[in-house]
Amino acid sequence: MCGIVGYVGPQQAEPILLKGIKRLEYRGYDSAGIALLADNGLYVTKAAGKIVELEKLLVHNTTESSHGIAHTRWATHGEPNQLNAHPHTDTTEDIAIVHNGIIENYRTLKSFLVAKGYQIKTDTDTEVLAQLIRFSYKGDLTEAVREALTQVEGTYGIAVISSAHPNMIIAARMGSPLIIGVGNGENFVASDVSAILDSTNRVVYLDDGEIATVTPDDYKITTIQNVKISPQIEEISWSLDEIEKGGFDHFMLKEIYEQPTTLRNAIRGRLNFEEGIPRLNGLNLQYEELREIKRILITACGTSWNAGLIGEYMLEEMARIPCEVEYASELRYRSPIFDLKTLLFVISQSGETADTLAAMREAQNHGVTTLGLVNVVGSTIARQSDGGVYLHAGPEIGVASTKAFTSQVMILSLLTTLLGRMRQMSVQTGQEIIEYIKDIPNQVEEILEKNEQIKNIAAEYYKADNFLYLGRGINFPVALEGALKLKEISYIHAEGYPAAEMKHGPIALIDENMPVVVIALKDPVYDKVMSNIAEVRSRNGKVIAIATEGDTEIADKVNHVIYIPKTYRLLTPLLSIIPLQLLAYHIAVMRGCHVDQPRNLAKSVTVE
Ligand code: AGP
Repeated sequence: MCGIVGYVGPQQAEPILLKGIKRLEYRGYDSAGIALLADNGLYVTKAAGKIVELEKLLVHNTTESSHGIAHTRWATHGEPNQLNAHPHTDTTEDIAIVHNGIIENYRTLKSFLVAKGYQIKTDTDTEVLAQLIRFSYKGDLTEAVREALTQVEGTYGIAVISSAHPNMIIAARMGSPLIIGVGNGENFVASDVSAILDSTNRVVYLDDGEIATVTPDDYKITTIQNVKISPQIEEISWSLDEIEKGGFDHFMLKEIYEQPTTLRNAIRGRLNFEEGIPRLNGLNLQYEELREIKRILITACGTSWNAGLIGEYMLEEMARIPCEVEYASELRYRSPIFDLKTLLFVISQSGETADTLAAMREAQNHGVTTLGLVNVVGSTIARQSDGGVYLHAGPEIGVASTKAFTSQVMILSLLTTLLGRMRQMSVQTGQEIIEYIKDIPNQVEEILEKNEQIKNIAAEYYKADNFLYLGRGINFPVALEGALKLKEISYIHAEGYPAAEMKHGPIALIDENMPVVVIALKDPVYDKVMSNIAEVRSRNGKVIAIATEGDTEIADKVNHVIYIPKTYRLLTPLLSIIPLQLLAYHIAVMRGCHVDQPRNLAKSVTVE
């Protein structure tokens, strides 16, 4: 949720650290800070608000330093003000720490430290850890961190520096991602590769329970129990272009427009036209084992959960496998019935969402095989699931997920076709679906050409206070996702509903001020959805319809219609969501909202 960067090497640390946390700002942006180690001790600067506020304070900074840590914060403990911003220091101001995660027993630790005479200055759990490291310090910084962490319950990704140990960063991880970026005569610590990608693409992923001692020429990794670990360097293939805006006003718009490419990447090498069986190499399951599966459970949060719900419709109808979709935060505490014939799909863009990870581990503890549908290569879910499929959508920086969603749905359609072909699905049907899948990226391109039309519709409704999104069958989850996009970035209250459920309650809300977005495609429930539209119109509600190209009836019955190309019915969400993403985007821009970094949100939610 927050972002961490650390640097040791020959260069000036401040610009490297600021650039790094700016690249991570999408992860948390309520306050920021930096600690530089100079000849006369630690130089700590912190600011409430975005990183630009921190930069203002550093304008006249002349500190020479080639060693430091920095942080961009998404508050969990303590108000997002300057005092509570990271880095936090111990009382003597010799030790500074940046931290992602939550120290759950910080109150107990605080009482212990206060009883020992320590004065705690802030409301944060992190300062308590800084003080605890000071309390444990006997001349060796790694050992002090190790000793302190044995007292800690909760999650952390930390980077620690001390004025007594120039050119050294101690990094440790439990539940919050952390990597070492390996350079030549310089090394980095970061919570996300995008922070360091312009300096190095060689990284070492820390695992839970590991501590690294990082110096300019070396890094040593041990476990908290002091067992030596042999690090493995991995090369990251993401390019710098992928994490920059490339001429678009916002990352979200860039990512919406990237979807033809990201969808092509999701299917590249995976379509087998002859046998109608997608090739998915990372599953680690043989065809025989896939045939044995009796039930699929899908777990995820937010947008990824919406993609999972689409997966449920696909899997039950096309593969004829009973399927349930559960919010990860519920699954982990619900005592679900796990059995060995259940396969768990774990869907996550970041691969680091705390609830999703915990739900996956809970299922694994019951012997359930887990498959990760993950975008971020090397993320915790990607590494700890039993098998999986990468989305290959490239870095998603906009907090509102767009391209990851369509790639998730695409991968679910491939998995469904594979599982269907392992059962009753005929080779012809498999081939037919794969032919339709192949055309999806071009069809997304066609829809993106309607951007101006969608922008004009946004101009009519951007002042609305509420929106309703309706869809049926496999397009009901698209209604949920359309509503989620709008509320996340425009702060307009929006609800997604199964179209027929409207008459059981939400219809009371309809009047001339209520825009209703209806996905009304030419499918078996078309006539029923048209009746729902009539119900809205007869109460003066304004209808924006997403309809199938060639539908000549609908235009007279709604206020606006956006046409999408025809495809296989169960693939329609891959197309129907595109206008809804653009609509949310334009409305948010017209309302002057911060599209890429909406208030109160963070890109990856690594706390419970
Ligand atoms: C999407 O727009 C959201 N920002 C959010 O709901 C997100 O999808 C959710 O937090 C899950 O994230 P993940 O896919 O990285 O696990």
